[in-house]
Amino acid sequence: MAYETILVEVDERVGIIRLNRPQALNALNAQLINELNAALDGLEADRNIGCIILTGSEKAFAAGADIKAMQNFTYPDTYLDDYITSWERLSRTRKPVIAAVAGFALGGGCELAMMCDFILAADTAKFGQPEIKLGVMPGSGGTQRLTRFVGKSKAMEMCLTGRLMDAVEAERSGLVSRIIPAADLMTEALKVAKVIAGMSLPVAMQTKEAVNRSYETSLAEGIRFERRVFQSQFGLPHQKEGMSAFIEKRPPDFKA
Ligand code: HXC
Repeated sequence: MAYETILVEVDERVGIIRLNRPQALNALNAQLINELNAALDGLEADRNIGCIILTGSEKAFAAGADIKAMQNFTYPDTYLDDYITSWERLSRTRKPVIAAVAGFALGGGCELAMMCDFILAADTAKFGQPEIKLGVMPGSGGTQRLTRFVGKSKAMEMCLTGRLMDAVEAERSGLVSRIIPAADLMTEALKVAKVIAGMSLPVAMQTKEAVNRSYETSLAEGIRFERRVFQSQFGLPHQKEGMSAFIEKRPPDFKA
């Protein structure tokens, strides 16, 4: 499929999706979301892909939902078309997804980054939920996910004032896993993605599912889920390969 608003590339077992509307700082419109969703479907269906990177440009991961496209929406438009629900496809991706964020990740852009499994931030990254300045509030998970990442006080301040957070504050408050010099962001993201893509794919997917389960359930249920999935992994050839490789002092080969 030929895309106009994203670029998709494959490097070994890593799929790279780059948001690409430079004229609008990667503002998110329906076409971009449809193309992103189609690309995710394709990479999910490809068993040779073990990890996905979602990134933008040096200046912007994404500056939010496209304000020009939204300006004249009415309530019936948003309700009847279920505006935004299709944006959640990213959060249902079963394979690991890394957000590599440089520049602005604002509004829907910050929300997309938070739907990924973890965020690697360039030292130029700026995060924020400035929707309130436009007379609306976050609509794609910002009030919920940001609060889980950084706690109520900081999330509330950011959502109520629209203040942006730089990379240092984002790392300190747990929004991003680490900060990387901007020039090295993609090299480092690719290195991390290749490490993940070199693991057993079903085990990586199950690990992601178990970590995410911690947000949705009680501790006892989460631990029961983890235990059952852990036990089931002894039915995979990858457990034999991983443990044999350790004992034989060689690197494991999980491709089989
Ligand atoms: C449409 C946008 C845009 C957006 C930037 N542009 N953000 N177009 N929607 N969200 C366009 C500008 O209009 C401009 O186009 C071009 O991109 C460059 O932007 P500038 O503003 O000239 O760049 P700069 O001065 O560097 O400022 C960067 C910025 C600013 C601070 C990021 O662009 C900005 O504040 N953008 C809006 C951020 C925002 O409010 N995001 C939340 C959106 S609401 P022209 O044609 O003029 O050159 C949202 C709701 C989510 O996300 C709900 C669920 C998804």
